[in-house]
Amino acid sequence: MSALNLQPLGVAVLAGGVALALVLIAWRLASRRRSLPCPVWLRWLVELDNPFTKTNRAAFIVETLAVKPGMTVLDAGCGPGRLTVPLARSVGPSGRVVAVDVQSGMLQRAKDKTQATGLTNVEFVAAGLGDGVLPESHFDRAVLVTVLGEIPDRTAALGELFAALKPGGVLAIVEVIFDPHFQSRGTVTQLASSAGFREAAFFGHSWAYVLHVEKPDTA
Ligand SMILES: C[S@@+](CC[C@H](N)C(=O)[O-])C[C@H]1O[C@@H](n2cnc3c(N)ncnc32)[C@H](O)[C@@H]1O
Repeated sequence: MSALNLQPLGVAVLAGGVALALVLIAWRLASRRRSLPCPVWLRWLVELDNPFTKTNRAAFIVETLAVKPGMTVLDAGCGPGRLTVPLARSVGPSGRVVAVDVQSGMLQRAKDKTQATGLTNVEFVAAGLGDGVLPESHFDRAVLVTVLGEIPDRTAALGELFAALKPGGVLAIVEVIFDPHFQSRGTVTQLASSAGFREAAFFGHSWAYVLHVEKPDTA
């Protein structure tokens, strides 16, 4: 391919990148006024395992959470199922994953992906976190990956997640600065400790991190 042919391609890629950046900036500004869920048409972007942030990769999140065969795991705000499938593989046929999302378009994509892999150990629930639909003391592990900032009532949502975990159960909260709804470590720590959680582990840095919070054994 000659340099002349590359030029229009380069301009198109640049224009696409600028357009995407503008959408993300507008979305971040809008999110400050009102909690808006990630639009379903952007699910292709959510599905990408970001090569620049290790702590946001599905494999890293599942591995550091020590998800084992036979466990019951909650994928809270599962989106298009980026973590649902690896979680279901890790718990195996004797375990179970419950994937919850407030948007049916996201849940449908997660369902289609799960079915395509032949996994039968996933249950899909259409609900908002904080609505009080989750069973109590039921889950060994839970993940909340780039979801917290989209939830209108974060206190209610974390309270429900706390109640839904078994004593000793661990919730992984993942945040990354590229997300228009990014939540700082300080904010997340404060919300989680108000719900009754105690910090168990931290991976990454202030702009991209995985925070493990545990429901105390005595709770
Ligand atoms: C940025 S996506 C992340 C999806 C997935 N966790 C991942 O990392 O690939 C955020 C998801 O949270 C969902 N969500 C937003 N508010 C929610 C709520 N109150 N309850 C349940 N899901 C919610 C959105 O519909 C969206 O699918």
